[in-house]
Amino acid sequence: MSRPSGKFCPTVPKNRPARVAVRPRAALTRESLLLESSRVAARPAAVAARHEEERMEKECACANRYADVDDLGPMDEIMEKYGHEKGALIPLLQEAQDAYGYLDEQIMRELARRAGYQLSQLYGVATFFSQFRLKPIGEYLIKVCHGTACHVGGATQISDEVCNQLGIKEGETTPDNKFTLESVMCLGACALAPIMVVGEDTHGKLKPTGIKKILKKYADIAGSTEEEE
Ligand code: FES
Repeated sequence: MSRPSGKFCPTVPKNRPARVAVRPRAALTRESLLLESSRVAARPAAVAARHEEERMEKECACANRYADVDDLGPMDEIMEKYGHEKGALIPLLQEAQDAYGYLDEQIMRELARRAGYQLSQLYGVATFFSQFRLKPIGEYLIKVCHGTACHVGGATQISDEVCNQLGIKEGETTPDNKFTLESVMCLGACALAPIMVVGEDTHGKLKPTGIKKILKKYADIAGSTEEEE
């Protein structure tokens, strides 16, 4: 970083050279070299262990992605956050959907009872906005972006091809519960348009001809997980 000139910084004379503080280096002893080399040797193992830990955490979070509708634990947290805020109906529903994956009738009734809404009010909002789901989703949620850039790039053909490959329509889930298809607005990665997100993965610059291969990968993963079980 350049030193501010004296013109703008009256405390620094204009032509004084910048002073760089040099800390004296600790003397290298045999012990310090041995210690350093053992640290370097241990680093890859530590990094690998951390990656494995993160991977397992991720897998775990994926497998138990959503709470069971009979589990009212998440509901307590949601109520703590938004239960007493009047007019927070949408965040209430969003949080419930994030926790349970969809808005089950039992969950809606409980939300209405606890937050003091009519059940019909909750259903009115949940059915008005397309972001809310009233049915459980499959193992992989496919979101095809239909924002402007993706639309221009051919999002309709991408959606059509996904429907064609999976034999479902938008908003539906395959009979084996592996895939649910949704269309969404801009996902914020317009440079990669057209894009779709499958589970946690983003696929960009798509062409209808590449859809089959992408879906097959997820179908194979889901199939191999079932076999292991
Ligand atoms: S329009 Fe699809 S990511 Fe922006």
